[in-house]
Amino acid sequence: MAIPDRFCYHASMIPTPLDTPEIQVAQQAALAAGKVLQRYFGTDFQIRGKQSYNLVSDADLEAERAIVAAIRTAFPHHAILSEEEHSQTELTEHTWVIDPLDGTNNFAHQIPQFGVSIAYLHHGSPAAGVVYDPVRDEWYLAARGQGEFHNESPIGVANHERLDQTMVGVGFYYDRGAMMEGTLLAIRDLFRQNIHGIRRFGAASIDLCWVADGKFGAFFEFELSPWDYAAAMLVVQEAGGQISTCRGEPLRMARSSVLASNGKLHQIVRQTIEPHLPASC
Ligand code: IPD
Ligand code: CA
Ligand code: CA
Repeated sequence: MAIPDRFCYHASMIPTPLDTPEIQVAQQAALAAGKVLQRYFGTDFQIRGKQSYNLVSDADLEAERAIVAAIRTAFPHHAILSEEEHSQTELTEHTWVIDPLDGTNNFAHQIPQFGVSIAYLHHGSPAAGVVYDPVRDEWYLAARGQGEFHNESPIGVANHERLDQTMVGVGFYYDRGAMMEGTLLAIRDLFRQNIHGIRRFGAASIDLCWVADGKFGAFFEFELSPWDYAAAMLVVQEAGGQISTCRGEPLRMARSSVLASNGKLHQIVRQTIEPHLPASC
């Protein structure tokens, strides 16, 4: 089964509201990866388990190779930190942080919700970020100090001030122990404060961009990796939102908990979920 046509809107051109060299290269690389993913989606591709429920497929690997080739051609001296075959790279002055397929579990189960995430970091801090949703052919773009866009349009976070006005996104790290239990308790306590709902869509980079464009008032997950959040972090910040660990500390491009919000809800969500964060997070 290929991606159903009704989900797949092929834009005739890549939107280019942010015309920096890094954004241009990231968009070309993401488009190449998106084509790989569209070709594999719904076919009988090989899936391997990092664990039984943490999967990797040929689609992840081929998409990553397409992105790495595009970046190396344009910036041969930059470092690349990417989930599959380049996951041990140290950050340098110029580093690209890549998730070639965010939402592998969805992808493996033919659920059309996944993304490509590419960030360019200058001295360890995101300076350009691209999250591409190849199912909807939608782009989230941000450049430090130059704003953020959803396709050609600037976006902004939700205006919600109270939990009973908002929808919250959540993710579950690949953990079936304390992190999973704590996440469920955090969700319970958010529901007790009358949030409109909880959504777990399964691609953290897109979830975070949905905070940036106001769909979610907040999103949290008790453990993510830099490739899950590096690009979307900049999209959230440039959209006027706030992003930190679930303890309210700055994100440091390492595995950590992540809380993103419209800013106004940051404290109340943090106070609600932090008591359920395991000590190891
Ligand atoms: C995963 C997704 C998922 C999140 C997991 C991530 P992957 O990324 O972003 O939404 O809950 O923690 O690892 O493994 O599909 O690239
Ligand atoms: Ca990911
Ligand atoms: Ca991935």
